[in-house]
Amino acid sequence: MRQPGLLSRRSALMTALAAPLSTGLGRPAGAASARRGSEILVAYYTRTGNTGIIARQIRRALGADLFEIRTADPYPEDYEEQVAEAQRQRDSGFEPPLAATVPDIGPYRAVFLGFPIWGMTAPAVIRSFLSRHDLSGKTLVPFITHGGYGVGQSLDVLAGHAPGGRLVEGFSKRCDQERETLAEVTRWLGRVEISG
Ligand SMILES: Cc1cc2nc3c(=O)[nH]c(=O)nc-3n(C[C@H](O)[C@H](O)[C@H](O)COP(=O)(O)O)c2cc1C
Repeated sequence: MRQPGLLSRRSALMTALAAPLSTGLGRPAGAASARRGSEILVAYYTRTGNTGIIARQIRRALGADLFEIRTADPYPEDYEEQVAEAQRQRDSGFEPPLAATVPDIGPYRAVFLGFPIWGMTAPAVIRSFLSRHDLSGKTLVPFITHGGYGVGQSLDVLAGHAPGGRLVEGFSKRCDQERETLAEVTRWLGRVEISG
């Protein structure tokens, strides 16, 4: 991921993280969603686990607090239904209610925000999260997984929904797509011979 102003943003991040790094390391890894005293929060949404792996590694490496973003009403389990629902929510601008919010986001200096790309942008629940939490003055570090088509419009969504935050260069990675796994399994099942 490349963004203008990379160097200045990177030094801003290093400044923001310098103190938490020196005090945060050695702290036991944070549990699910409770605030444990770190100045770094890792908030993430994951459907199939790819983004969750990265979230937990950031938590471990930085001694950060971890918060899993979830919708109040579960998304469909079926992949095709989920694709349709994601498109509807993207096109309508709907922000699904959250199952929970971060109890006190005020003291965090940096928020690592992780999500998969859905329909070439951030899932609607990420807009919900940004609308419900004031990130003004905080460093916002995205980490994004996608199925091979890149980060799409997602950075514009972050900039638009967290106008007071300092968006710095993040991390993005191509990961396995549920769609491909489903197709492979379906092809395999077509070859399985069940007799007797
Ligand atoms: C509803 C839906 C829409 C998706 N849309 C895209 C897309 O537009 N571009 C892309 O590269 N990958 C897309 N993917 C693939 C995911 O971004 C990718 O598999 C991601 O790593 C999943 O992360 P997770 O395991 O944390 O949920 C989509 C997946 C789903 C379920």
